[in-house]
Amino acid sequence: MKIGKIYFETYGCQMNVADSEMVAAIMKADGYETTDDVQSADVVIINTCSVRDNAERKIWNRLDFMKGLKHRNKGLKVGVIGCMAQRVGDKLFDSGAVDFVAGPDAYRHIPELVRETDIKPVVDTEFDIAETYAGIEPLRLDSESISGFVSITRGCNNFCSYCIVPYTRGRERSRSADDILRESENLMKQGYKEITLLGQNVNSYRFGDMDFPKLLETVARHVPEMRVRFTTSHPKDISDELLEAIARNSNICNHIHLPVQSGSNVVLERMNRKYTREWYLDRISAIRRIIPDCGLSTDIFCGFCGETESDYMQTVDLMETVGFDSAFLFKYSNRPGTFASKNLVDDVPEEEKVARLARLIEIQNRISLQRNKSDIGKEFEVLVEGESKRSSEMFCGRTQQNKMVVFDKKAYKKGDYVKVKITEASSATLKGIVIQ
Ligand code: 5AD
Ligand code: SF4
Repeated sequence: MKIGKIYFETYGCQMNVADSEMVAAIMKADGYETTDDVQSADVVIINTCSVRDNAERKIWNRLDFMKGLKHRNKGLKVGVIGCMAQRVGDKLFDSGAVDFVAGPDAYRHIPELVRETDIKPVVDTEFDIAETYAGIEPLRLDSESISGFVSITRGCNNFCSYCIVPYTRGRERSRSADDILRESENLMKQGYKEITLLGQNVNSYRFGDMDFPKLLETVARHVPEMRVRFTTSHPKDISDELLEAIARNSNICNHIHLPVQSGSNVVLERMNRKYTREWYLDRISAIRRIIPDCGLSTDIFCGFCGETESDYMQTVDLMETVGFDSAFLFKYSNRPGTFASKNLVDDVPEEEKVARLARLIEIQNRISLQRNKSDIGKEFEVLVEGESKRSSEMFCGRTQQNKMVVFDKKAYKKGDYVKVKITEASSATLKGIVIQ
């Protein structure tokens, strides 16, 4: 029997990267092997994101390309999975390129769906609150990487008013700690050096009497040779207990990604974020008190419904006050079906959103440069990830704080921990010399 070849293309967040690896495992069990060459694929799976309109536009363009590919390769089947599959459903067939559509809770059915496409295009976007993909060992797709993802929760119950995720990924559920420990251990055995625990809001993890601080510490102690990271945290539930667990365990990286979204209380309320600017700043003080050398990053978007220039300046002020090491910055994108889309007015003109975003980027670049310059002369433990993009004579790797450092290769190899003294800094990268 001919073995089918499957090609994956993954967009959006790290959760999607982890999901593609799980779908790869499901397909392997059905007799498929993965390929890096789209031209030779029998099945293409595109794992999609709906978080902003431009993420979806990118997928429509990609489907246009797939339509051409299908023209040349008659047997090719194209599937769309992920958040856009859930949100857009059978309208994806309008592209003329799609044979099957599977939402985030339907991945176990994909082998069956592929077979059904022999007869007609199929959609499966049923939610299944019990689905945690227990017992599936992901098939790692990036064989070069020393860093692997382990998903710990799926879905989201927070309903931030702008966000599509609760609608595309359904209600929150946690995976069993046993599954998480087994997966982490397997990564260690395969030679991985770092794991990132993933969830839309990892802080709300709960399985039996295991909460997130306990889980994080248990994982860290289970794989003591590995670095452990986690993302994403919601500021409303980042507890001192969690910070203490990070501080206590040297292999839990001193880095927290804590999306603030806005610095204005009025806007935060309208976003249904359930915390205030003051609460957020208090959590930042707690982080700095309990983990003094903690790297900090955030997500912010400007131009949300009703955001005035003075609201916006509050965001700028918060950025200056906190001094994030880095930030993902966006402009508001109206998502049909969300509370904001139905009940609030998207009234900040597009040119104004663009201008506000450009200013945010400029401000953050300056802050990142300052933060990085303050690392010059300091020493950091760096995990070697691979060759630097700019030079094959150099390696790159990250500090616990999640900053990228470039340094001379010497006799080191991927996966080593090296101590690097920082000598130069730009807004995006550090440069240094290995001292041991
Ligand atoms: N428009 C713009 N940005 C958004 N995000 C989520 N929803 C939207 C939206 N409708 C941003 C938030 C979130 C990140 C993943 O994407 O900052 O933290
Ligand atoms: Fe995009 Fe959010 Fe879905 Fe991730 S969970 S793919 S960021 S919409």
